[in-house]
Amino acid sequence: MVITWLGHSAFWIVTDENLKILIDPFISNNPSCSVAVEELRPDVICVTHGHSDHFGDTMELAHRTGAVVVCNHEESVYLSKQGFEAIGMNIGGSIKIQGVKITMVNSTHSSDMDFIEEVAAGGSAAGFIIELENGRRIYHAGDTGIFGDMKTVIRDIYRPDIAMLPIGDRFTMGPFEAAIAAEWINPDVIIPMHYNTYPEIEQNPLEFEDLVRRSNPHVKVVTLQPGQSYQEG
Ligand code: NI
Ligand code: MN
Repeated sequence: MVITWLGHSAFWIVTDENLKILIDPFISNNPSCSVAVEELRPDVICVTHGHSDHFGDTMELAHRTGAVVVCNHEESVYLSKQGFEAIGMNIGGSIKIQGVKITMVNSTHSSDMDFIEEVAAGGSAAGFIIELENGRRIYHAGDTGIFGDMKTVIRDIYRPDIAMLPIGDRFTMGPFEAAIAAEWINPDVIIPMHYNTYPEIEQNPLEFEDLVRRSNPHVKVVTLQPGQSYQEG
């Protein structure tokens, strides 16, 4: 399995069975992403919420590649009206795509579809637990503040092995909260995200690494540069 950070909250995951999953495909307008949207051929696109820095190039990609879009119910209704194949779901539910189980979990954030001229309600913002064919569980937290269910629902029920957590502050958790979240969730690996895309969310990831090292030395922080990958197996 290979996980590539495309900058901001966008991740490209290739599973052992070669399923290509793209999470939060903010590509063409993403200042930290050097990949051209035309290069990407995902099988599945997972969208955590309706904000343009996450919804991104979803429609262009789905149109060009025929990728199925997994998102919340409200966004799926919008996408269906535009003629796209979308799998709508909601917090607490799971779906299965070719041996990969995708569960939508809570996040504390908002989700208006701010890319539409007349901004439309976009349901609830969410995170995803993605259980791969080999049983490894990936938690993409989406945009979120810290919330208590990270130590109960996320850790006790879903037990993620790898967690992508936002550390940018202002719109999401900052390094301080994310380090506490790391302790609560207790995965093997954390990949920080949603920082240094814009001046408003500038952070030094070393500060986050340091906080995690002090509070939970068992968790390995894998800080990637946009375009870099973390690989297992
Ligand atoms: Ni957002
Ligand atoms: Mn965001």
